[in-house]
Amino acid sequence: MSLVDPFGRKVTGLRIAITSRCNLSCLYCHHEGEEANPTGSREISKDEIVKVIRAGVDLGVKRVKFTGGEPLLRSDLESILKKLPGGLDLSLTTNGTLLAGRAKSLSEAGLGRVNVSLDSLRPEVYSRITGGTVEDHRKVLAGIDAAVEAGLVPVKVNVVVLKENEDEVWDMVEFVRGRGVILQLIELLDFSGRGLGGDFSRIEGELEGRADKIVTRDMHRRRKYFIDGAEVEVVRPIDNTEFCANCTRLRVTSDGRLKPCLLRNDNLVDLGSADLEETKRLIEKATFLRSPYFCKGQNPSR
Ligand code: 5AD
Repeated sequence: MSLVDPFGRKVTGLRIAITSRCNLSCLYCHHEGEEANPTGSREISKDEIVKVIRAGVDLGVKRVKFTGGEPLLRSDLESILKKLPGGLDLSLTTNGTLLAGRAKSLSEAGLGRVNVSLDSLRPEVYSRITGGTVEDHRKVLAGIDAAVEAGLVPVKVNVVVLKENEDEVWDMVEFVRGRGVILQLIELLDFSGRGLGGDFSRIEGELEGRADKIVTRDMHRRRKYFIDGAEVEVVRPIDNTEFCANCTRLRVTSDGRLKPCLLRNDNLVDLGSADLEETKRLIEKATFLRSPYFCKGQNPSR
């Protein structure tokens, strides 16, 4: 079985926000496209998470990414992982503050790899961007090492390029080279309109100048630079229509709804109390509702 949307795009991945709660408050956070979540709103249950993944797998899903909020605020993630079918690419995007104590148990439960957000190597800049403490910063660094140790590889360090941290890019390259992790530089999606973003074009120019090798990946046409033993991935739409054209994921919100697009909230599909078979039908329905936000020859104003 495979899922194909009306634009011919295959759905092969689920990105599940397992909570909207977070212990940091990053300046730029897009909350995975969820509308401000009033406290006390419903949180998707363990059984619902397992069910939507099983249903997805029956329909050809191969990759599952857990996000939040901060997904490690849920203590049942390991028990969720243990209930999932084998052979999936299971990954986690975390802020890393709670990772050191969980890396081993997550790996043993079947998690494959992690992406850890670390927006600065300087504790005071980190605090300004994330609202975290100097101690949180130290915990994230320990979390990255623990993840490598536990074999949650490749570990990727996510950096959203901001005016606050753009001068650190080359220190970051050194940092990942020394640890055998991958640096993932992400272009800011500027929801706030506050102009927080750094000069990504300048940085890419520098990467191009210093790279020994450049590779382009299919997914979202991501480019990868190899620089004297360091690996740097760039997550940046070359152009938005290409970005959307290469999208293969369906999102699940923290309150249990299928979300066809990060940038829209008018086409969500509630999973409610659907059983496995009904959940498959709802996944097909949400796939049918997928449409590229940035579409060739079309004005993206919606
Ligand atoms: N722009 C780009 N990436 C973002 N993330 C969160 N908010 C934004 C944004 N506004 C990404 C970061 C973080 C992950 C959870 O989501 O990469 O590491």
